[in-house]
Amino acid sequence: MAVLLITHDLNLVRKFADRIAVMEQGHLVEQGRVSEVLAHPQHAYTQRLLASKPVRDVWPAQPEAAPMLKAEKLRITYPKPLGGFKGWFKKGEFVAVHEASLHLPQGQTLGIIGESGSGKSTLALALLGLLPAGSMQGQVFYERKEHIAGIKSAQSATENIASMKFDTSLRQSLQVVFQDPYSSLSPRMTIEEIVGEGLRIHEPTLDAAQRQTRVLAALQEVGLNEAQFPGLLLRYPHEFSGGQRQRIAIARALIVNPQTIILDEPTSALDVTIQQQVLTLLQKLQRERALSYLIITHDVDVIRAMAHDVLVMKDGQVVESGAVDAVLQSPQQAYTQQLVAAAQ
Ligand SMILES: Nc1ncnc2c1ncn2[C@@H]1O[C@H](COP(=O)(O)OP(=O)(O)OP(=O)(O)O)[C@@H](O)[C@H]1O
Ligand SMILES: [Mg+2]
Repeated sequence: MAVLLITHDLNLVRKFADRIAVMEQGHLVEQGRVSEVLAHPQHAYTQRLLASKPVRDVWPAQPEAAPMLKAEKLRITYPKPLGGFKGWFKKGEFVAVHEASLHLPQGQTLGIIGESGSGKSTLALALLGLLPAGSMQGQVFYERKEHIAGIKSAQSATENIASMKFDTSLRQSLQVVFQDPYSSLSPRMTIEEIVGEGLRIHEPTLDAAQRQTRVLAALQEVGLNEAQFPGLLLRYPHEFSGGQRQRIAIARALIVNPQTIILDEPTSALDVTIQQQVLTLLQKLQRERALSYLIITHDVDVIRAMAHDVLVMKDGQVVESGAVDAVLQSPQQAYTQQLVAAAQ
């Protein structure tokens, strides 16, 4: 079989491809055998690509940091259709996450890695209070200073709804960048509406012009501007590439000045130069505003560059966790070992 593999992942190219073609701004700028091009890149863009690896530049963990996001013994289920006659009356249960606990202090980053389907995105949705009441057991706390405004799910569905204390200030403080930049941006809204939506809700006193200034500034922060994309604000998501959409989603989260951001594969569709730019921005914001991040990723380089602690998931269980150095230096789980080895 012949394969044409389109990717941002240089490790993948190094391992699987025979020949490589490098594209920049619509031009094939360089082609050749993988070994030759990667060892002696001729074009400036290829050289930049090979030179950029995410750099670790994290705020040292503060021992006294207040907990921002905490989950205890979270068990999350999805309904599962039952076969045959039984299925007419009852639904089964698929346990997507078993008894997961986690702890994210202020100003720190917690990385989550794990096989596809291991329950990472499900866990993120639960932490955000976006799963139906009744599908979750355990506790989630979201704290700001002494003030605890969180969801605290209980056994019964009614109690669960009653304790979903998600007020708007909490919604502003806890933001999310969803995994899939294709389905998470409304195709009917312009970029200005998408990025500015949070401001309409959380800062309703701004007028249209002030809002537009903030939207442009947020887009500029993630490397999107009018000069490069004329009519940027009036465009729709389908007019952007996957990586550009991912940056729009990050701008949408950053614009309301959150304290905590859950990022589900935030840089998976970005080439390493843009990835480095986005990660550097996140690191800078973390230092300046003591932000907390929960980053879900398959990319060990991202974990290494960004995270203080890491949590490894497999089949819905947290199988390994601890400080990044410790876990990545001597991984216990076969999956973590493979990931670390593949990123060498
Ligand atoms: N809405 C749903 N209804 C039923 N099952 C679901 C639903 N969403 C996810 N699942 C199942 O729950 C499990 C965990 O899914 P989840 O999306 O959390 O995985 P993930 O770790 O984020 O994977 P990936 O790395 O591929 O994004 C999977 O087995 C999936 O099939
Ligand atoms: Mg996922």
